[in-house]
Amino acid sequence: MNEIIESLYRRKSVRAYETREIPEEMKNLILESAMQAPSAGCQQLYTILDITNQELKEKLAESCDHQPFIAKAPMVLVFCADCKKWYDAYLETGCEPRTPGVGDLMLAVTDTVIAAQNAVVAAESLGIGSCYIGDIMENCEEHRRLLQLPDYVFPAAMLVLGWPTLQQKQRKKPTRCEQKYIVHENAYHSMDGKELREMFAHKYKNHTYEEWCSAFCKRKYNSDFSKEMSRSVEKYLDSYKKL
Ligand SMILES: Cc1cc2nc3c(=O)[nH]c(=O)nc-3n(C[C@H](O)[C@H](O)[C@H](O)COP(=O)(O)O)c2cc1C
Repeated sequence: MNEIIESLYRRKSVRAYETREIPEEMKNLILESAMQAPSAGCQQLYTILDITNQELKEKLAESCDHQPFIAKAPMVLVFCADCKKWYDAYLETGCEPRTPGVGDLMLAVTDTVIAAQNAVVAAESLGIGSCYIGDIMENCEEHRRLLQLPDYVFPAAMLVLGWPTLQQKQRKKPTRCEQKYIVHENAYHSMDGKELREMFAHKYKNHTYEEWCSAFCKRKYNSDFSKEMSRSVEKYLDSYKKL
């Protein structure tokens, strides 16, 4: 295994940080590495918000489903899918652009999360831990106000970064499903009950599949935060549907 692949296997989310800061040069390297990611037509359809204001971090820790560790991270980045800057550039030159559509948004989200993952990998190589926060897609109205997000700018991912505590370094990385369930040859294959049970066997361990799966569904998929995410994203989508 080479160094890069080893670091991909080693990397796990870090949710508790030492109090020390991330030096500016390292922070800069992480941001520059994000920007080295491929992007559609090299358009870099994202804008990264570097959240340095402690009060703002604390507000985000609350608005992102009450996760206090967000406010304790020395580095907090919000990766926004940005369909506005090119649209504005086109308007500026009078080339009568159509308004951005959902396809443009999907492409921008793709660019955005690829850049975010480059930041994760770069941070890992420096010994800096990271955790994605999906809840940044919730609370559209509040996040638009807090981050001054205009139409056509969608906060696709938040990353919190910092030096992992010893406990976090020693924590076991969650096991992945086996490759045969994740990689389908040539065409999509719908899994039956037997295959689903096998795929998730490492997750339900001492429980039955029914017990584990219904508890997980209640805690995640049917949760209030999950419903809020769909409501909020619908709000962001409104402006893209006016094509
Ligand atoms: C899109 C996305 C959203 C996530 N949101 C959260 C979050 O809000 N809070 C959190 O603690 N972890 C969050 N995570 C981290 C996942 O829980 C974690 O990646 C997963 O459990 C696998 O563990 P690992 O990253 O340690 O390998 C998120 C990860 C992704 C990719």
